Amino acid sequence: MDFKSLVSHCKEYGFIYQSSELYDGLAAVYDYGPNGVELKNNIKAYWWKSMVQMHDNIVGIDSAIFMHPKIWKASGHVDAFNDPLVDNKDSKKRYRADQLIEEYCDKIEAKIKKDVVKAAKKFGDDFDEAQFRSTNGRIVERQAKIDQTLDRMNKALSSEDMEDLKLLIEECEIACPVSGTKNWTDVRQFNLMFNTQLGNISGEEGKLYLRPETAQGIFVNFLNVQKTSRQKLPFGIAQIGKAFRNEIVARQFIFRMREFEQMEMQFFVRPGTEMEFYEAWKAKRMAWHEALGTSPDKLRFHNHENLAHYANAAVDIEFEFPFGFKELEGIHSRTDFDLSQHQEYSGRKVQYFDPELNENYVPYVVETSLGCDRMFLAVMSLALQEEELTNDKGQVSTRVVMKLPKAIAPIKVAVLPLLKNDEHLVKTAKDLLGEFKKHTTTQYDEKDAIGRRYRRQDAIGTPYCVTIDHQTLEDGTVTLRDRDTLEQQRLSKEEAISIVLKETDLANLM
Ligand code: GAP
Repeated sequence: MDFKSLVSHCKEYGFIYQSSELYDGLAAVYDYGPNGVELKNNIKAYWWKSMVQMHDNIVGIDSAIFMHPKIWKASGHVDAFNDPLVDNKDSKKRYRADQLIEEYCDKIEAKIKKDVVKAAKKFGDDFDEAQFRSTNGRIVERQAKIDQTLDRMNKALSSEDMEDLKLLIEECEIACPVSGTKNWTDVRQFNLMFNTQLGNISGEEGKLYLRPETAQGIFVNFLNVQKTSRQKLPFGIAQIGKAFRNEIVARQFIFRMREFEQMEMQFFVRPGTEMEFYEAWKAKRMAWHEALGTSPDKLRFHNHENLAHYANAAVDIEFEFPFGFKELEGIHSRTDFDLSQHQEYSGRKVQYFDPELNENYVPYVVETSLGCDRMFLAVMSLALQEEELTNDKGQVSTRVVMKLPKAIAPIKVAVLPLLKNDEHLVKTAKDLLGEFKKHTTTQYDEKDAIGRRYRRQDAIGTPYCVTIDHQTLEDGTVTLRDRDTLEQQRLSKEEAISIVLKETDLANLM
């Protein structure tokens, strides 16, 4: 399904609303509706269970959003958490310079893809894409242009050479998408942190930041957690929580938000062993995505060329969103940068005593950082499908169905009495509903024909529907309908409960 349909489905079925819609909306801020919050909580539960509950050497915390302002000086965010911005003087629109350049390269890539598709059609089964890309003169030239441009951009970003970024925009003859002119201001760095003020302290002293990552709450609690949980290295601290960034280019729905949620884990290791754990976490995190049923060709690793100020190695797990492959999760080897900085800025020792080596040192850190909202978007975009169905009489119809992994579906089972004005059917349905409610998320629906009720559940991804009919009153059996296979089985109520609970258990994903 295309991206526009996905966005409107999210609204129509209570997954995601634009924030402050009543007041014409607040850009890049979104609210989760009744089905959205259930799905999001289930994604978080899947992450928490597999990262914390399934690992003896990972513990969780929930640190505050407000932190001492010195923390952000120490972490480098005050000085280095910037985006390079450029304004078009005619349209007065502001852009991220690196994104303008990347979009320019995307357009060249689109031209290459067009040629590849054309050639594939022409040569049929004999077509060898890799060979075509490496030998076709026009493609080789275009690819070289992309590589040179991105290489120069990355160098300019790493060395904070804003003049060269502007020159690159001019040399590529990039025009403003709104005014169409190439009348650009200089490129300037813009800090992404939101700030606010403590009530009882005026001026710079009382300036507070809304955290731009949850990770620092973990770093500054390293000693507390290590001592109180008596963990030995290597061990991890995990946390799920809100983060805030004053994103300038905030587009693509919940992909880039100003207020979002992160699921982060810092794994503390002995210095010198970090690459071994970095590789191990890369593999584990990819396996976590695949365990959810995401096909491997929708996921890929992308190594960072332009390393963040704290990292000595970094990779993204990219997912093929409806608008192309983009970052879903980051895995970073953060060295001892953060803990050393906090040691220096706080004036306190932030070290670990290693009983095996009989020495104190600042641990190294491997971080896994997944955006909860991006994960939500990835899950939704994979699940939402329009499917053609043919019935026994050969009649074809279409249904919109969300083939969510059963364990994370917002509603696990819908209970449907065949008729709403038969009090025996309604009572039996409500009794069964009460049984399900003790264990899982449910919905009761008695309105409209049964087929329409099934479609409503399909559209929100409910894996099972249980229908109560007159036979139920006679022999206690119900019909259990499976969302994906459309199979309907006649079973006892106990069997139906047991199947639903077993098949929707998060344990199936572990
Ligand atoms: N502690 C490391 C860190 O914050 P990051 O790559 O800046 O690294 C980690 O962010 C993840 O957070 C990203 O992979 C993405 O999933 C999510 N994320 C970052 N900025 C976001 C935004 N503006 N909106 C939604 N998700 C975002």
